[in-house]
Amino acid sequence: MADTDGLLDARDFGTSAGPAASGFHVKGAHGQDWGLRNRLSRIFRPDTGRTVMLAFDHGYFVGPMAGLERLDTRIAPLVPDADAIMMTRGALRTSIPATAGAGIVLRASGGPSILRELSDEHIALDMEDALRLNAAAVAIQVFVGGEHESRSVANLAALVDAGQRHGVAVLGVTAVGKDMVRDARYFRLATRISAEMGAHIVKTYYVDEGFETVTASCPVPIIVAGGKKLPEIDALTMAYRSIQEGAAGVDMGRNIFQSDSPAGMLAAVRAVVHDGLKPEEAYEIYKEKAGGSAA
Ligand code: R5P
Repeated sequence: MADTDGLLDARDFGTSAGPAASGFHVKGAHGQDWGLRNRLSRIFRPDTGRTVMLAFDHGYFVGPMAGLERLDTRIAPLVPDADAIMMTRGALRTSIPATAGAGIVLRASGGPSILRELSDEHIALDMEDALRLNAAAVAIQVFVGGEHESRSVANLAALVDAGQRHGVAVLGVTAVGKDMVRDARYFRLATRISAEMGAHIVKTYYVDEGFETVTASCPVPIIVAGGKKLPEIDALTMAYRSIQEGAAGVDMGRNIFQSDSPAGMLAAVRAVVHDGLKPEEAYEIYKEKAGGSAA
């Protein structure tokens, strides 16, 4: 057993330096095979190195939540304005036109519903079906500190093995139990474990204090989940700070599809992520598209 006594706290994150130049626009992927880099390029725009990923996979454990009652009428029209979309294979096959140009990120874990212990997940997608669906990446929840921590990390590793075999990227999704402290120290631990186990992208939450240490110490791109619905200006501020502090994009769901103008919010988030607009500037885009329905 490793001797964990006397471990020194990490302290020199070199946050002012940025990642070392590698010749490829996705952090940590320069050594990957052509197919995997090509798939990552369907998620991260080569001109900005960033992504706006629209997440609507929530139904895999909560069912038809607000904003996701109808995937065909409410979500499909948004897809052309997203760089990538994250959903289950059921949602993709039934409700998203095959003409969609966005990078496909398939939810690959599942099992328990919101009525049960959420960390009890299994791999719920075969890589062969992911390839059939032209997936650029598959996504799996990782429950560091959760009751089924070891299994979820082993699930991630198994998916990475399959992904490396076929050139499909793996997105490790940091799942935070309701009793866990959401701070930079926890997110450094959880994101680094996912990256060290081979994830090519890691999704996590933004924290006000020390987020730049999370992005700096993770050797693959961090994308930020939106989390619960916030006022639009606050969600845009979170996206802006995330990017300023080293995130390579957002994987946002509720703050887009639960907005009174999902299309306006998506356009505003794009402006923050790809064009560097300040939150207040992007909010004007949202308001304009919302057509006066916004405050
Ligand atoms: C949650 O289980 C899913 O992974 C979501 O895709 C993720 O949390 C992003 O959605 P939201 O922005 O609504 O948090």
